[in-house]
Amino acid sequence: MTTQQTEQQYLPVDLKRELLPRHVAVICDGNGRWAKKRGLPRIMGHKRGVDALKNLLRTCKDWGIKALTAYAFSTENWKRPEEEVEFLMTLFGRVLRQELEEMIEEDVQIRFVGDLEELPVGLQKEITHAMETTRNNRTIQFNVATNYGGRLEILQACRSIADRVQKGLLQPNEIDEAIFERHLYTAGSCDPDLLIRTSGEMRISNFLLWQIAYSEIYITETLWPDFDRNEFHRALSAYQQRERRFGKV
Ligand code: FPP
Repeated sequence: MTTQQTEQQYLPVDLKRELLPRHVAVICDGNGRWAKKRGLPRIMGHKRGVDALKNLLRTCKDWGIKALTAYAFSTENWKRPEEEVEFLMTLFGRVLRQELEEMIEEDVQIRFVGDLEELPVGLQKEITHAMETTRNNRTIQFNVATNYGGRLEILQACRSIADRVQKGLLQPNEIDEAIFERHLYTAGSCDPDLLIRTSGEMRISNFLLWQIAYSEIYITETLWPDFDRNEFHRALSAYQQRERRFGKV
């Protein structure tokens, strides 16, 4: 987490600690447009996107938020130009190597969620190493959704539950939400309280379809590389104005 905003920052006085989301999820959109606006190649947008994500992780940690989940690469993103996909895979590996030590020091538990077997083998090894090294860290959980698709996650959970039923380990009428959740990539994480999407698009894009059932959604026109601490402050202020009813009156 070598960031531009390094010193510990306290929770702004207008935010109420007891009303903070426990878990924030972000759809980091707009890296390409950010670069294009500046006449830069798209990959520069992704580089700056990583900086924005590191800063957000630091802010979440400083302000006492317990989990952050970021959409880094979707199952559909393989359809991008080959050089861009290759750049992103290399970037993920490099960021992991560079940041691991600091994540250990800062007590960050990093977890990659998604269909990880399709990723380059070298990256898979880096991911396994980082996840194993930080698995007992408790200050903040940082989930990176990589080769992630919400429908695929639900399908894979169904397959694995069906397998248990077929083996006689589970009865169909025993399948409830708690059991289903245990078969998702995100097993063990609480659901996001707040989902932020940058760059103004009004869609979910196959992200955390099961988990966001009751999440509050905040959409900003800001492009992801410009999503800084002030923007996050605004998102949290908006979140704290919301009345969460979870289907009740
Ligand atoms: C979407 O912008 C962004 C991505 C596909 C990449 C996001 C990745 C990160 C923020 C890095 C996370 C990595 C780690 C390992 C922590 P876009 O390309 O869709 O932008 P556009 O919609 O303007 O084209």
